[in-house]
Amino acid sequence: MKRVYNFAAGPAVLPLPILEKAGSEIADFNHTGQSVMELTHRGSDFKGIVEKAEKLLRELLKIPDDYAVLFLQGGGSLQFSMIPINLAGVEQGEAKKSALYVDSGVWAAKALDEAKKYVNVKIAASSKDKNYTYIPALPAGIAAPEDVYLHICLNNTIVGTRWNTLPDTGAGTPLVADASSCILSEPLDITRFGALYAGAQKNIGPAGCTVVIIRKELTEHAPSWTPLMLRYDIHTKDKSLFNTPPCWCIYIISLVLEWIRDLGGLPAIEKINKEKAALLYNAIDNSKIFCSPVVKEARSLMNVPFVVRPELAADKDKIEKKFLAEAATAGLVNLSGHRLVGGLRASIYNAMPLEGVGALADFIGKFAV
Ligand SMILES: Cc1ncc(COP(=O)(O)O)c(C=O)c1O
Repeated sequence: MKRVYNFAAGPAVLPLPILEKAGSEIADFNHTGQSVMELTHRGSDFKGIVEKAEKLLRELLKIPDDYAVLFLQGGGSLQFSMIPINLAGVEQGEAKKSALYVDSGVWAAKALDEAKKYVNVKIAASSKDKNYTYIPALPAGIAAPEDVYLHICLNNTIVGTRWNTLPDTGAGTPLVADASSCILSEPLDITRFGALYAGAQKNIGPAGCTVVIIRKELTEHAPSWTPLMLRYDIHTKDKSLFNTPPCWCIYIISLVLEWIRDLGGLPAIEKINKEKAALLYNAIDNSKIFCSPVVKEARSLMNVPFVVRPELAADKDKIEKKFLAEAATAGLVNLSGHRLVGGLRASIYNAMPLEGVGALADFIGKFAV
């Protein structure tokens, strides 16, 4: 078997020991004589898996009891609808409520566009003027009493920026965050959030499951027209088993969480992630061919875009093509930037080993045109 270093933004690399363990149990999970993919979700074997995943997530992120932990479907994208419907939806004929959104990147913009169907979206701040290469400052006291929540994207996967300091929403306006590309990459104070959500396929497991962590009180305001599958209160009451859940994904998630715990939890993961990011940014900053488009203080620890230096712009396409081809030959794959912004990008999630980042940093240092 030859494994490559996979820098994809998601679906992304998974820890090899987990793939091996899942492989060893593929046809016979826990002496049941069945695969996890064949287990009934109503049986005690699968309930054990989902309970283990929830317990580990609660331990790692120190999630208080007044928060629900949900394993849902529909990706990060369905949360762009579920958040406004459940938190600020109104009955038919009633005037829309308002919610604040920070426009800090492509996914943040998609979230606010979708929310417009259900709430009056107020843009609290935007970094669109400079292609989202920084995190915009929020004016003090931005949240008015009528704003039901403030939504941010904690780590902007495509442009490679992240919030280093959480915005202060003031009393009464919960902070809601899309944490799809940074969840579990470092410790996070959950009590600062009313809700956060993350598609699993970057830092938690395979595609097909979305983790939602939400203060239980906020699950109780869905308007009566809300489809049952989109109601947080229903999923909370049924402990993520309202309908058939993504069983296999939740099983892999439980193994990933166990792996993080055994590495020393989130403080240990954060230390490794900072080391990896420093190694890569250092290689980019020292390169004569590439540079980082992002302001230093907002650089993501997880998604690292890099572009051909302006003085070489005339040969940009040729250089990128050569880089991608030679990198792939060296076993460094999926380094294209997102199709909307182009350029190059390395996603270095928890499961990307330090050696992989080291190999990429060396490759960037030696790459010649
Ligand atoms: C920050 C962020 N939010 C949301 C999404 C959309 O997630 P999904 O494809 O699971 O709907 C992505 C996908 O890459 C993302 O990076």
